[in-house]
Amino acid sequence: MPSTPDMKLRSAAWFDNPDNIDMTALYLERYLNFGISLEELRSGRPVIGIAQTGSDLSPCNRHHLVLAERLREGIREAGGVVLEFPVHPIQETGKRPTAGLDRNLAFLALVEVLYGYPIDGVVLTVGCDKTTPACLMAAAAVNIPAIALSVGPMLNGWHKGERTGSGTIVWKAREMLSRGEIDDAGFIRLVASSAPSTGYCNTMGTATTMNSLAEALGMSLPGSAAIPAPYRDRQECAYHTGRRIVDLVREDLKPSDIMTREAFLNAIVVNSAIGGSTNAPIHLQAIARHMGVELSIRDWQEHGHKVPLLVNLQPAGEYLGEDYYRAGGVPAVISQLMTAGLIHEEAMTVTGKSIGENCRGTTIEDEAVIRPFDDPLRQDAGFIVLAGNLFDSAVMKTSVISDAFHDRYLSNPEDPDAFEGPVVVFDGPEDYHARIDDPALAIDARTLLVMRGVGPVGYPGAAEVVNMRAPAYLLREGVRDLPCIGDGRQSGTSASPSILNVSPEAATGGGLALLRTGDRLRIDLRKGTVDALLTDEELAQRRTELEAAGGYAFPASQTPWQAIQRELVGQLGDGAILEGSEAFQ
Ligand code: FES
Ligand code: MG
Repeated sequence: MPSTPDMKLRSAAWFDNPDNIDMTALYLERYLNFGISLEELRSGRPVIGIAQTGSDLSPCNRHHLVLAERLREGIREAGGVVLEFPVHPIQETGKRPTAGLDRNLAFLALVEVLYGYPIDGVVLTVGCDKTTPACLMAAAAVNIPAIALSVGPMLNGWHKGERTGSGTIVWKAREMLSRGEIDDAGFIRLVASSAPSTGYCNTMGTATTMNSLAEALGMSLPGSAAIPAPYRDRQECAYHTGRRIVDLVREDLKPSDIMTREAFLNAIVVNSAIGGSTNAPIHLQAIARHMGVELSIRDWQEHGHKVPLLVNLQPAGEYLGEDYYRAGGVPAVISQLMTAGLIHEEAMTVTGKSIGENCRGTTIEDEAVIRPFDDPLRQDAGFIVLAGNLFDSAVMKTSVISDAFHDRYLSNPEDPDAFEGPVVVFDGPEDYHARIDDPALAIDARTLLVMRGVGPVGYPGAAEVVNMRAPAYLLREGVRDLPCIGDGRQSGTSASPSILNVSPEAATGGGLALLRTGDRLRIDLRKGTVDALLTDEELAQRRTELEAAGGYAFPASQTPWQAIQRELVGQLGDGAILEGSEAFQ
């Protein structure tokens, strides 16, 4: 079906321009080269871009190369014309120094493509951690009709009858190796067992989190986030996504109609209920800023903290991606949250219906995996947002506080939500790896580990290194999680209740740069404070000394993009976007 006669497609400015027939001919001759006919391009059919994130360099998203075939069929059958193009690859586990560096680069490049070419609507093929926010940031900035199609998680991993989850098993295997329980070959076997098929991390890491939140934002088809990559249902989802994007263009339903403040608040609530990643506040903030929506890190405390944990997935719980899908996925979670009045039900979605209409009445199919609202895994499971005399904001994921951590640090009857201790400070992951097992540091169960120099400027892109394992000698005594705090990020697959995303970072003058090994920190979770037990005079004196020495030192940039991003990037608490780029919405 052609578009309604009075509808002027964006692509018509390229292909159907009676005022400038020369230019039209120039555009047409090359696009005709690969089998698109003149009639198709000039008949008012929506031109649909497939923003392809899959490649050999991006194994988590590589299955999108297969899914694109079904996507094309759906687009064509609904009357659209397809133009598929590559997105700058981002592979979370392969990119040095960190994949965080590439989110803003992929965003920039995708904006140029969507703005500069004859595209009426776009399917964003998302999946591995940062591909989802990068694509949604670009769709928000250009504001043309868009649907996110997730590639889906891998199948469940298994080892000796137990589920082995992406990333989460790596942290466990590292501890087992340190304790001498497995050798190198055993380590590789255990870790490889967690990756049995195509797809992204099967735990509630940043990938499952961000794909669930894309659905909660209303930007993907209901129920689509959790479908495992190899399942038949995933192919069907690609086909239906292809059909739907064509109608979305005809209905002129844009990201700005969908990603409203209410949609972002829904996503915050869903993040708490699923036990989502600590990278989510950074990415949602970035998407919101490019959408021109007011959102703040404080919204996570205000709207997210009191929400219970409903989804029993690793690292906060036991299960994995296939179980999440069979139990009902995102619609089942949202339906539960709706019964408690926690969802803005009128928020619009890519189906053309509200999130309430999409999810109402969806039942839980397995209550071991998705719990009913009145029987959650944990109450008050959202992030705590912290501040103090060293920084303006940081987050802590409370849903992963273990009983052992709770008993050791949070069980003082006079002060149940607070603890303090001496710090050992590391300047970046290399320093940490070189020294953590050194007995001279005298790290014990009361020590707080501090990681600095790993924010968006210090370690360009911000490294996922704040969750630090305890020294081997403490692991052997059964002390697993020491409190960690740092100006970098942490993998969403980690079960460490670290204090993360400290903003501002040491490299831009943040107070962590003033801390010295042996200082004491006091952390009060009820008040939301982290303070160095140092006087204002002492802190001022140290700042003067630091500035006289030229500021906090960090390694030089190794590529042009590292240097450019360092010049422009903001702090994690503000979404770590290229400051100033949000003006171009
Ligand atoms: Fe790609 Fe986890 S490493 S999704
Ligand atoms: Mg990650």
